[in-house]
Amino acid sequence: MFEISEMVKRIQGSERSQRKITVPKGAIRMDRGEPDFPTPPHIQEAATRAMRDNFTHYVDPYGDRELREAICLSLKRDYGVVRNPENILISAGGIEAIHVISATYLNPGDEALVFDPGYSAYWDSIVLFGGKPVFVPLTDRFHLDLQAARDRISKRTKMIFLASPSNPTAAVLGEEEIGGLAKIALEHDLLLVIDEVYHRLLYGEIEHFSICRIGEVKDRAILLNSFSKTYAMTGWRVGYLVADAKVIRDLVGFHKALVICVNAPAQKGCVAALMGPQDCVEDMTAEYTKRMRLVEKALKGIERISTPPCEGAFYFFPRFQHGVTSREMTNYLADRGIFVRSGTEFGGNGQHHIRISFAISIEKLEEGMEMLKKALDEMD
Ligand SMILES: Cc1ncc(COP(=O)(O)O)c(C=O)c1O
Repeated sequence: MFEISEMVKRIQGSERSQRKITVPKGAIRMDRGEPDFPTPPHIQEAATRAMRDNFTHYVDPYGDRELREAICLSLKRDYGVVRNPENILISAGGIEAIHVISATYLNPGDEALVFDPGYSAYWDSIVLFGGKPVFVPLTDRFHLDLQAARDRISKRTKMIFLASPSNPTAAVLGEEEIGGLAKIALEHDLLLVIDEVYHRLLYGEIEHFSICRIGEVKDRAILLNSFSKTYAMTGWRVGYLVADAKVIRDLVGFHKALVICVNAPAQKGCVAALMGPQDCVEDMTAEYTKRMRLVEKALKGIERISTPPCEGAFYFFPRFQHGVTSREMTNYLADRGIFVRSGTEFGGNGQHHIRISFAISIEKLEEGMEMLKKALDEMD
């Protein structure tokens, strides 16, 4: 009776939106992209207190001032950079921030560079708002090929979307790569959106390099972040953008039209997350590190499968040589009670890859990786 709009039809074909799963009892879920830890108690307590104090009405569309100030302090603490509350917009998670950026700056036919494999929400968002995603292949180790990016820039290119640490590849980009991209953005007058939602989940000696440290691109770089992954707060739906004050004023229009403002008590929980003790993040990262080593070791013991190291986030993105597509492999594994994500959900270059998430307990991971080995060994 009612037909959906052309706009929404544009994202209906994407593998991401088509994914439907029924999970049988006893299945091992290595497909989920969210922390399995509870939100730390002091964060829950701060939000509860805010509710009791009747901090339960609309707040500033830019975000609660105390939270924006806390973000500025965290940027100073973590990166030594000075930003003001005027440089911050609080969003309903990282995902709303992505849509706000696309809606604000893309006109029909405009192009945006995305990296393949990469986080598919970028291209869903670009397409939703009438833009055209232009896919830039990554290197074998899932790092940047800057020339490949340059080669794909046209007169219609408006912006670049990129995540570091990456979902799904777990690659973390260094200063040289981020710097190279910043140079491209300057030369071609592009907006550069760097998604740093996994910035505290790093392994071994790997260090995160934030885009906000490159002063030359202060007027065109947008740092996108979220409380979801760092503080195990996916359900709270709070993220933020750091950008030039003029860019923030541009962005607030669509954000306000969409949500007015972000959940008020949740924002007070986020103040506690940033200003409170950080040992909860260190404890979770220590646990992820153990799981990462477990999966790394288990993958080494499986034939016809290879993987670059996991540098950040909580994923592995191994390549398999079993002569089936990623989707077929994912279905085959699901039939055996092992749930992972198909590499092609993250772009054409994700073909012959699966994404394994280790955001589950050590016991479940042990069982899951054993089941995975058995299933892959038994495949022709
Ligand atoms: C790279 C990346 N960016 C952004 C998001 C969105 O997170 P949220 O909307 O919960 O902040 C995700 C979620 O998986 C992600 O992987």
